[in-house]
Amino acid sequence: MIVYFNSKFLHKDDVKVSPFDRAYLFADGAYEALRSYNQKLFRLNSHLKRLKHSLTELSILFSGFNDIKTIAEELVKKNNINSDYSFYIQISRGISFPRTHHFASDITPNVFAFVKPIVDNRKQREEGVPIILEKDLRWLRCDIKSISILPAVMVSQKAFSSGVFEAVLYRDNFITEGSHTSFFAVKNNTIYTTPLSNYILDGITRKVVLELCKENQIEYKEENIKVDELKTYDEFFITGTTTEVTPVIKIDDWFVNNGKPGVVTRNIQKLFNIYTENFNE
Ligand code: PDD
Repeated sequence: MIVYFNSKFLHKDDVKVSPFDRAYLFADGAYEALRSYNQKLFRLNSHLKRLKHSLTELSILFSGFNDIKTIAEELVKKNNINSDYSFYIQISRGISFPRTHHFASDITPNVFAFVKPIVDNRKQREEGVPIILEKDLRWLRCDIKSISILPAVMVSQKAFSSGVFEAVLYRDNFITEGSHTSFFAVKNNTIYTTPLSNYILDGITRKVVLELCKENQIEYKEENIKVDELKTYDEFFITGTTTEVTPVIKIDDWFVNNGKPGVVTRNIQKLFNIYTENFNE
C-alpha cells in the first residue's frame, strides 16, 4: 500500500514518524474521512471547510487545502484502485521537543493520508442494523474532528464485541450522535435530528439528508431526541460518509418497527442514492 506523508508517496512501512510528534504524545491533530462516488470525491468542499474549522479551533497552522484533491487522486493511481474508495487525511500539529503541554506557534504539521477501496455495505443498508445506547463520555468540543477519540473507540469496540453495528450516545436524557455516525428519528412522517452544537460533529451526510428533505418537501426538525421518549418514534436511521443512510432496526433489546426498515427511511435512502449518482460537489 502506498500512502502519503509530508509531500512524499511511500510504501506504508517506510513512513517514519518521531514519537515526539504531538499526535503520538497528545493525540494533537485533526482528520477528515471522505469517499468517492463514481471515483469523484463526495462533498470535497464541505470536508475541506470542516477540516479548516477543526484546525483553526486547534490553532494548527496548515495551508495545503488546495493540494488535498490531488493527493487523493495520486494515491488512487499509485495503488491501482479502480473502484470507489475512502480517503483518510490526518494533520498532526507536528514535532515538539521536549514534551510540554503548550506548544510553539511555528511547528510544521505532519500530513498523512491513505486511500482504500470502499467496503460493500449494501447488506446493512438493505436489512438495517442493530445499535446499542451508551453514555456519551466525550469532551465538550465534538464539533472539532480531532484525532483524540478514545471514548468513541471504547464504545465502538463495545458495539463490535456485542455484535452490533454502532453505539449511539446520550448526554443526560438526550441523544447526541453515534460513535462515528449522525442519528435520525422519524415520527408521523417528520424527521428529527440532534441540532448542531459543540456536542456533535457537523456531519456532511447529515447535511445532505436535510437538504434532500427540504428539496422534496419532507418535514424535518433539528430538535433534541429524548432517550426516555425513543419508543414514541416510528423509525430511526444513522448516516455517515461510509455508513451512508443505514436503517436502525434494533436499539438495545427493542426491535424497532418489528425489526424492519421504515418507509420514510427507505425514501431518504432512495433520494440519497439518486443524489450520489448525480452530485456536482
Ligand atoms: N466519522 N459523528 C461522528 C462522531 C463521526 O466521527 C462521523 C464521521 C459522523 C458522520 O459525519 P460525515 O457524514 O461527515 O461522515 C458523525 C468518520 C466517517 C470517521 O470517523 O471515519
